[in-house]
Amino acid sequence: MSIIKLNKTPSKPSIIMAKTKSVYTCQSCGFKSPKWLGKCPDCNQWNSLVEEIAFEERRGLQVFEGDYSPQPITTLEAREDDRLKTGIQELDRVLGGGIVLGSATLIGGDPGIGKSTLLLQAVARLANNGIKVLYVSGEESPKQTKIRGERLGVTSENLFIYAENTMERILDSVKRLKPNVLVIDSIQTMYTQTLESSPGSVSQVRETSSQLIFNAKAIDMPIFLVGHVTKDGSIAGPRVLEHMVDTVLYFEGERGHHFRILRAVKNRYGSIMEIGVFEMRDKGLAEVINPSELFLAERPQNASGSVVVSSLEGTRPILVEIQSLVCPTIFGIPKRTVVGIDYNRVALLTAVLEKKGGLNIQNHDIFLKVTGGIRLEEPAIDLGIIASLASNFLDKPVPPKTIVFGEVGLTGEVRGISQAEPRINEAEKLGFDRCILPKDNLSKIKNVGANGSSPLQLVGVTSVKEMMDVLF
Ligand code: TYD
Ligand code: MG
Repeated sequence: MSIIKLNKTPSKPSIIMAKTKSVYTCQSCGFKSPKWLGKCPDCNQWNSLVEEIAFEERRGLQVFEGDYSPQPITTLEAREDDRLKTGIQELDRVLGGGIVLGSATLIGGDPGIGKSTLLLQAVARLANNGIKVLYVSGEESPKQTKIRGERLGVTSENLFIYAENTMERILDSVKRLKPNVLVIDSIQTMYTQTLESSPGSVSQVRETSSQLIFNAKAIDMPIFLVGHVTKDGSIAGPRVLEHMVDTVLYFEGERGHHFRILRAVKNRYGSIMEIGVFEMRDKGLAEVINPSELFLAERPQNASGSVVVSSLEGTRPILVEIQSLVCPTIFGIPKRTVVGIDYNRVALLTAVLEKKGGLNIQNHDIFLKVTGGIRLEEPAIDLGIIASLASNFLDKPVPPKTIVFGEVGLTGEVRGISQAEPRINEAEKLGFDRCILPKDNLSKIKNVGANGSSPLQLVGVTSVKEMMDVLF
């Protein structure tokens, strides 16, 4: 038997030049794949993978030094009132009572909604109080920002405008200028020289924001990031951006309306239920201290389908008008069009009204909207929706000085809601004289009205049918 020895030739050293490798990154969740895919297997988004140049992830570029050694919580010093107040009440409240030192806040919103205006106004107030602010604009030249500033009446030597897109240069100027507050408008226009992908791509957004936030925290400097939103309304870039920051605010409003609503969707230092209401004027954003008055200003008198409901937004009850139109379906399947409320909720309440309220409404087209461009999500508006639909269907107006609130269950029962007292007080302040509310709440009410008893006529109901008997 002969043994054949295989004499392996040593492999030749590679002489192929290093090629730039590309990687496909999902622009919505950051998932990476070596080849293109039509649908991201991670977040199921279609057509979201974009080719980027692969890079070695370099982390931990720390410019500023901070003490990060473990310490017992008892020896740490932090006070709740260590907050910077902008003086814009609506903003301070949404932030949880002012800007926390070292916090990172992301502000998202449609283009042209007023993000830059809001931030410029807010930091101008800070600057007027002697706080040094660096406003980095990656979208507008210093001149353009100046023109906007003049329109808003911004004059302060403590407000520094810097048109720059490179993260390294921004960090460098922060180091030299030592501002107390940093604004980055917008994070999608920033890039770091360590990555080759273009600004706005997932890797750039993730890297620049993490570096900026990391360094800002090291020197206790609050940082504001403006974020663009995608077609479907979420902040462009990976979701990780929302994880990295302490607070995520959305600035919303309907096109054509001058109301703007600032809503917190995440806040490590405050409630996420708070909203701030602003009005866009020709000289910038004005605070709306009493939004109910504004939302009800143009309310039609004695129109069927118009009902005022009370929605608790954070600590504040807001009175808003719901309007509906119920028309017989001419052809085919009945249509439902809903603006400002979840579509499925209205479909559900329509079914309850048909079955438990005894109205033959299912085969009608239904159009329902919340006026003023605000979006309502609270269950307490259920009863108001039903009252509005019934009112238009029966063509009987709800008395104009009546306010309705309560949650409605599938059996047509009216269930109690939280915080009835502040809602009643708000209605009283605005001149309402009757309130239809869940009986459960009525039995527990204690302190309402200026002198302990409300001048409002309070009517407690237990079912949809009972509410209809009271109203129509
Ligand atoms: P802007 O802050 O540039 O929006 P964003 O930064 O969110 O893209 O807001 C621009 C819009 O606001 C623009 O349509 C004009 C309007 N506007 C006013 O109505 N009044 C003003 O005083 C300012 C500065 C802007
Ligand atoms: Mg802008």
